[in-house]
Amino acid sequence: MRFATLASFIAAALIPSTYAATYQLSDNWIGSAFLNTFTFEAIADPTHGRVNYVDQATALARNLTYANGDTFILRADDTTTLSASSPGRNSVRIRSVKTYTTHVVVFDVRHMPQGCGTWPAAWETDEGDWPNGGEIDIVGVNDQSPNAMTLHTGADCSMPTSRTMTGTATGNNCDVNTDGNTGCGVQASTANSYGPSFNANGGGWYATERTDDFIKVWFFPRNAGGVPGDVSTGPATIDTDNWGTPTAYFPNTDCDINSHFDANNIIINLTLCGDWAGQSSIFNGAGCPGDCVDYVNNNPGAFSSAYWDIASVRVYE
Ligand SMILES: *[C@@H]1O[C@H](CO)[C@@H](O)[C@H](O)[C@H]1NC(C)=O
Ligand SMILES: *[C@@H]1O[C@H](CO)[C@@H](O)[C@H](O)[C@H]1NC(C)=O
Repeated sequence: MRFATLASFIAAALIPSTYAATYQLSDNWIGSAFLNTFTFEAIADPTHGRVNYVDQATALARNLTYANGDTFILRADDTTTLSASSPGRNSVRIRSVKTYTTHVVVFDVRHMPQGCGTWPAAWETDEGDWPNGGEIDIVGVNDQSPNAMTLHTGADCSMPTSRTMTGTATGNNCDVNTDGNTGCGVQASTANSYGPSFNANGGGWYATERTDDFIKVWFFPRNAGGVPGDVSTGPATIDTDNWGTPTAYFPNTDCDINSHFDANNIIINLTLCGDWAGQSSIFNGAGCPGDCVDYVNNNPGAFSSAYWDIASVRVYE
């Protein structure tokens, strides 16, 4: 035993440092820290949702954004009945000022928006160079559980059918020009990875590691046993080698990560209806009544749970 321990200690010491999956904390966003490190994008929703994205001053004045202590809330308006001619229900969309290549990002989320027509997302992209700069969808897509983690890229990026991960692949071609831009997705294996079950469980952690060799996403439910301390306590240095099998694994086998992904921003948005969630097959299929836009216009109270409550977002490089 002693010899084995000593031998592996020496071997570990001889491995070049580039193989070690250690990273240092570079951004530690908690509460009001989000206000000067993210841009509030008061833009027309690219997915044509029934939302009116507001700027930071408006979001704070209407309490659609609330930062206090270790609480950071982003929500849709839940008090206003809309006329058909209004631009949409007020909501927020924030984008990190900084961009990242090789990095790890850990989202500690207590609650994500839920309810009919809600379509929240936490993801990464380069909006100025889509799809060639890549897109990593970490959490998102309607009130449907389990969560799907998906890459969207330019041509010549696909995933091998056999991969070591706990989730289930739903498509292997990441190229946005194939399969109607469904991307290469992986479904998490547990229902508490998304929506009402995620919220009922107190949320959890989503962690994404991007290197030139792979992109990995892990989901750790709030009450799971064995959540790595690196993830739950947010230390200054982390080592992803200790995090176990990822929920989704996207290796560079048939996708040159380096050329398909450039420096990406982190984005958190909350739209309502829109190209995906507004389709009647999706909206009615989720048990929601009538037409999505009518529903959003006339039922402000239905959006009282349409909020993100984020404990922290940490980035390591
Ligand atoms: C703003 O939102 C926070 C978080 O939900 C809540 O605690 C607070 O009471 C709200 N403030 C007002 C003025 O409504
Ligand atoms: C957020 O915005 C981007 C477009 O910039 C879009 O691709 C994505 O689907 C949106 N997601 C939601 C949930 O609004």
